Amino acid sequence: MRKWIFRGLAVVLVLGLAAAGGLVWLLTRPAVDTVGKVAFERKLAVPPLATSRTDGQGRRVFDLRAQAGESDLGRGKGTATWGYNGAHLGPTLRAKRGERVVVNVSNGLAEDTTVHWHGMHLPARMDGGPQAPIRPGATFSPEWTVDQPAATLWYHPHPHERTEKQAYRGLAGMFLIDDPGTDVAGLPHEYGVDDVPVMVQDKSFTSGGGLDEGWRLGSDIGILGDSVLVNGTPGPYLDVTTSLVRLRLLNAATARFFNFSLSDGRPFTLIGTDGGLLDRPHELRRLPLSVGERAEVLVAMKPGERVVLRSGPPAPADDFATGRFQGGRDRFDVLELRAAATLRPSGVVPPKLVETPRLDPATAAQKREMEFSTRNINGNKMEHGRMDAVVTRDTTEVWTVRNGHDTPHSFHIHDVQFQVLGSTDGSPVPPQLSGWKDTVYLPAHEGWTVIMRFADFADPETPYMFHCHVLRHEDEGMMGQFLVVAPGAAPPQYAGQHGDHGAGG
Ligand code: C2O
Ligand code: CU
Ligand code: CU
Repeated sequence: MRKWIFRGLAVVLVLGLAAAGGLVWLLTRPAVDTVGKVAFERKLAVPPLATSRTDGQGRRVFDLRAQAGESDLGRGKGTATWGYNGAHLGPTLRAKRGERVVVNVSNGLAEDTTVHWHGMHLPARMDGGPQAPIRPGATFSPEWTVDQPAATLWYHPHPHERTEKQAYRGLAGMFLIDDPGTDVAGLPHEYGVDDVPVMVQDKSFTSGGGLDEGWRLGSDIGILGDSVLVNGTPGPYLDVTTSLVRLRLLNAATARFFNFSLSDGRPFTLIGTDGGLLDRPHELRRLPLSVGERAEVLVAMKPGERVVLRSGPPAPADDFATGRFQGGRDRFDVLELRAAATLRPSGVVPPKLVETPRLDPATAAQKREMEFSTRNINGNKMEHGRMDAVVTRDTTEVWTVRNGHDTPHSFHIHDVQFQVLGSTDGSPVPPQLSGWKDTVYLPAHEGWTVIMRFADFADPETPYMFHCHVLRHEDEGMMGQFLVVAPGAAPPQYAGQHGDHGAGG
């Protein structure tokens, strides 16, 4: 009997020590740091521009097919990935303001998907939200008229509870909008030459070379990778042939918050954010980009030199939990810029870019508060049968979006671009939040007051979404839905899930 008690105590002791050891390891484990360790041996892949045709009604028609394949992401040729019209990622769609576009989205996967046009102002029925899944083998053909300023938008899946995995496997692409009416002379604009998409994503790999979809221990934001790819290229370099290069940065990660800088600390010029160009260029040395955000920057290069785009911890440093468990202390070498021995001179960047009309909070018809905490918004998880807000078309609203706890989040809203009026703690609005935005970082216990105008597309049946863009959080229900209804319309009879794009549909 006594022997068994001793054995039991020994087992308890060993388990206790193991747990304590695990805790110590978790708390002292070094951050991921690839600075100075990346060889930059591969030329940066530039996603091809999607081909399109003009149909009999003058519409520009694109085809996108979600499919599975195999890619070489630096661990041999056989990494299982997903892509649009290819094995990994998708082509860049490009259209002009005023054009009517149709995208035939077909689902070549074995599970439901949707494609959402992130940042695009379009009718809710065309928006690709989770209420309208595209079944395997089915095609959905949303169409709309592009009507917003020139911008760097993107597209990605948005299926109910499956967005993180689908995006992580490679379903994402850019959607560039040109606006001939407000073309700014002097900005680099040759796609893939001096105007380059930079889709940044973090990945981890299994020992067999597959994408590792496991969570880092302690992570409260889903998958965090230990290496960074740009446009799917590991260790990428970009050959720069002009004195100024325009990088269209997109944080297409599922959870990671980047904070970009250049390796020698030189400044770069911020010219645009989510919804388009800023009123004027801003010199920056650091640029934080939360999940889903975009920024357009210009980097000045001298002949023959090399400089590395890096990502480091947020500044000022986040709290302990964010730093330790949510990747907030990690550093990455992202992309090497290699200037040619002679550089073609670029144009002169004008001191004024565009003129953005400012929305006036005094005109707001409605004020709302949205608190992001645990996996809820205002205490609720996403429910198809519950409408979280009903907005009247032709009105302006002011929303306070706030993070109520320690885990970082990223607020995103469909349909509209917003302007940031101020922060909830009174700190000034930084240049990267001075223009049109559709996504904004919510640091622990902080938030923003934003203003937006719902000018179009009343539909009493089909909701738009707002959510945390940490995709795991979105999948776990950190999402709400809103309707835009016509002024004076009867209150909508919302019936929940509908609009299924079934097989053969
Ligand atoms: Cu980029 Cu609702 O998402
Ligand atoms: Cu979106
Ligand atoms: Cu979140």
